[in-house]
Amino acid sequence: MCGIVGYVGSKDACPFLISGLQRLEYRGYDSAGISTLRPTGGLGVTKVAGRVADLDSALQRQALTGALGIGHTRWATHGAATEDNAHPHIGGQGILSLAHNGVIENYESLKFALQAKGYAFRSQTDSEVVAHLIADCFKNAAADQHGDGSVQSGIEAVQEALSQLRGTYGLVVMFRDYPDLLIAARCGSPLVVGVGKDEQFVASDTSPLVGFTERIIYLADHQLAVIRSNNIQVLHRDQGRIRPDIQTLSSQTVDANLEGYGHYMLKEIYEQPESIQNALRGRLDKDNATAKFGGLNLTTQQLRGIQRIILTGCGTSWHSALVGEYLIEELARIPVEVEYASELRYRNPPVDHDTIVFGITQSGETADTLAALREVKRKGHHTLALCNVIGSSIAQEADGGVYLHAGPEIGVASTKAFTSQLTVLSMLALYFGRLRHLSFEAGQRIISQLESLPSLVEKTLECHGQVKEIAERYADATNFLYLGRNYNFPTALEGALKLKEISYIHAEGYPAAEMKHGPIALVDERTPSVFIVPQGTVYDKVLSNLQEVKARGGPVIAIVDHDDRQVTNLADAVIQIPQIEDFLQPIVAAIPLQLLSYEIALLRGCDVDKPRNLAKSVTVE
Ligand code: G6P
Repeated sequence: MCGIVGYVGSKDACPFLISGLQRLEYRGYDSAGISTLRPTGGLGVTKVAGRVADLDSALQRQALTGALGIGHTRWATHGAATEDNAHPHIGGQGILSLAHNGVIENYESLKFALQAKGYAFRSQTDSEVVAHLIADCFKNAAADQHGDGSVQSGIEAVQEALSQLRGTYGLVVMFRDYPDLLIAARCGSPLVVGVGKDEQFVASDTSPLVGFTERIIYLADHQLAVIRSNNIQVLHRDQGRIRPDIQTLSSQTVDANLEGYGHYMLKEIYEQPESIQNALRGRLDKDNATAKFGGLNLTTQQLRGIQRIILTGCGTSWHSALVGEYLIEELARIPVEVEYASELRYRNPPVDHDTIVFGITQSGETADTLAALREVKRKGHHTLALCNVIGSSIAQEADGGVYLHAGPEIGVASTKAFTSQLTVLSMLALYFGRLRHLSFEAGQRIISQLESLPSLVEKTLECHGQVKEIAERYADATNFLYLGRNYNFPTALEGALKLKEISYIHAEGYPAAEMKHGPIALVDERTPSVFIVPQGTVYDKVLSNLQEVKARGGPVIAIVDHDDRQVTNLADAVIQIPQIEDFLQPIVAAIPLQLLSYEIALLRGCDVDKPRNLAKSVTVE
């Protein structure tokens, strides 16, 4: 987690550092800091327990200047969100500054040894251990053959310290005595170097680099970059110096403009007609009544030979995987299993030869998903990424994949990425189905339903006013139930997650019928149940479940897809969405659920785009 930036050049580092941290805030936002090498010498550090905006205000009051600098925005793992625990951390007696992302597993034993040598710790973080460890190695390196003050001592100190670490890191270090040196190193936490002219940049992902440079180097694990204003060297732990692969930054830019919306989440909800259109674009093959994908990197024969698919992900992406299971099993008749990435990694399930594994991830950086894919890849399975962020770690490491093309998603609660994931999964199900038993006519029917999605989602957004009124009635509730069946069971899970994430109301998503095996005990006049009850194979069944809740005095908010008299007579509030076949209902039904959580969070005064304790991209296990 956490965001890191670094700058070395001849300009003032602060403007890049602050704008970079603002763009990286989605990775964590409980505290922030920057450090520069002062023009007069010595390391300056400004840190705050709070947001990047608070850091910016602190810097307005007292500027930090210097043409070498690093910055960090934090999501706490070890130690609370305090100023002392914020990064950058100073190593030794002001010898170096360090910003770190990741988790150092052996930090306690290292800390103990460093304390015994007299190093004083100001924070509870694992990262400060790395700062002092490098300082200690630097003392030793400087004392031997490189005591001449060449930057080699700094490089060797970092290499020696890294060899003692267990865990994950993406880190950037600057030394008091080297005004033209940044060292960046990666093991498990992403880092990108931005190549400039007489200036260079480092960041946790490409977003801070947009507008500063278009030439980038993605560091791979065990690589270390020695960065000077007019030169970059990349060293690999085992292979020594390697030639860096300089790539061009994709045209996908950070659209930091709210365009009149109050929040990114709302903007992204309203972008869904377009983001779904972008997911569909160029992928529907009407002549053959199928979908087409350029990057799966599997032959038709291999695709026909697939016996099993594992879909894995975390959070909202895991909910997409659940919908994907229903879709692929129904349309393609291939057995699908859905695994939490964090469980798949350590569970070691038997995986047969003809199994492919899809990692579903908006960011492409989620540590658990990345680790799960690496694990199955190591065992020889073909891994695919269904991912939004171009060039992200998972996109790079998977054997193939499909991009969502949803554009940057900035609100922490995922909205448009979810509906784009479902759109792509529907097309994959169609594609796999057409390689097997699915008829031409069935394929055509599915394509025409898919094509209607953007306009149906546009129409669905018209329910916003009605959802707002409903939110006003129920914003004070402390518990919610979300209930649906079949394709809309995962929709219920996603609705509940949205509410929890941004309004801090306890909410449970359940298969509507399963509700009677436990959650029904929660039903009372203060606990609203949101029923997703459009027409379809399970309509009557869900209606019975809805009656069971009403019979126990529970308020019911129902999502229907026509002027449904039966439901309207029973429910306390009704939201109407357009009709579409079962397998695409989650895409349309998700919209009022997103809006409901948004409106309730607003009424409760919550920070919609940056909810407490969460981060957009979770790069720690
Ligand atoms: C975090 C976010 C969630 C997201 C999950 C998976 O927990 O707060 O909104 O669904 O990570 O993220 P990914 O980028 O892998 O889809």
